[in-house]
Amino acid sequence: MSKALHLPVMKEDILEVFGPSQLHFFFEGTLGLGGHAEALLQAHPEINYYLGSDQDETALSLANERLKPFESKVHLTHQNFFEALDDSDKTFDGFLFDLGVSSMQIDTPERGFSFQKEGPLDMRMDQSQSLSAYEIVNFAPLSELKMIFDTLGEEPKAAIGAKLIVEARKKKKIKTTLELVSVLKPMRTGKIRGKLHPATLVFQGLRLAVNKELDVLEKTLKLCFEKARSGSKIAVITFHSLEDRIVKNLFRDQEKQGGFKNVFKKPKIPSTQECRYNPRSTCAKLRVLEKVDHE
Ligand SMILES: C[S@@+](CC[C@H](N)C(=O)[O-])C[C@H]1O[C@@H](n2cnc3c(N)ncnc32)[C@H](O)[C@@H]1O
Repeated sequence: MSKALHLPVMKEDILEVFGPSQLHFFFEGTLGLGGHAEALLQAHPEINYYLGSDQDETALSLANERLKPFESKVHLTHQNFFEALDDSDKTFDGFLFDLGVSSMQIDTPERGFSFQKEGPLDMRMDQSQSLSAYEIVNFAPLSELKMIFDTLGEEPKAAIGAKLIVEARKKKKIKTTLELVSVLKPMRTGKIRGKLHPATLVFQGLRLAVNKELDVLEKTLKLCFEKARSGSKIAVITFHSLEDRIVKNLFRDQEKQGGFKNVFKKPKIPSTQECRYNPRSTCAKLRVLEKVDHE
């Protein structure tokens, strides 16, 4: 398998965070292509139980291949990370969440995540679920579309985008990514924000809605607080402000309650060099919470 399918973001920072820890039991919620997992398993031969979940079956089977050398320690599960952690009867010395989509998902046009490549309006990480972007775009009421683009996409012209879609689908169903891009074109008659592609925020909102990504994040992190062993670290890499706000607030509140501390005062960001060789890391932010009480 080509390891270039996805370059693990902030890999060196993750290795540094967990460097001094004795990681016997480790939980990774977003296994993806197994890049972080491989690096952690190589750096920590003491790991004897590595539980990795991903809601994308294709990612999981690629990770399975890659992690063959560690197969006696690695336990993979095709589940949402909340379900995976909730189902486990273990406590853990470390947790990792590298949120969002992998390059493999974005670069596969048939998955429908990219507004730059023609593909079906899909966007499901878990291809066994029934809800896809097609259902939302073609059947959700105007108010729901507006809410998705506004709250999940943070799209300032959410109402205009929602109206354009509702008008277009009266004539014919919107079936593909590029059809949607073309429907949304009139949204950007004014100044285009920064270097954003006109469809970026609508696509972001749809992806988050299809995969209910934000819904499970908060309750999963709360579960991590319960399942963290003494000295355990919870590392979260986020890629947009909505996710980062959830992590920041929860970590701050947990620190106030005692027993945990933020390892970094401000989120760590990738080096300029990393952003250059892996542009997808550009918006990444890493926050780490450590359990500091003693059992
Ligand atoms: C950025 S990639 C992770 C890449 C991985 N760290 C690596 O180095 O290869 C994120 C992965 O998490 C999965 N994912 C996102 N949200 C999830 C969730 N709530 N539960 C399980 N998997 C999730 C996606 O399907 C995707 O494969």
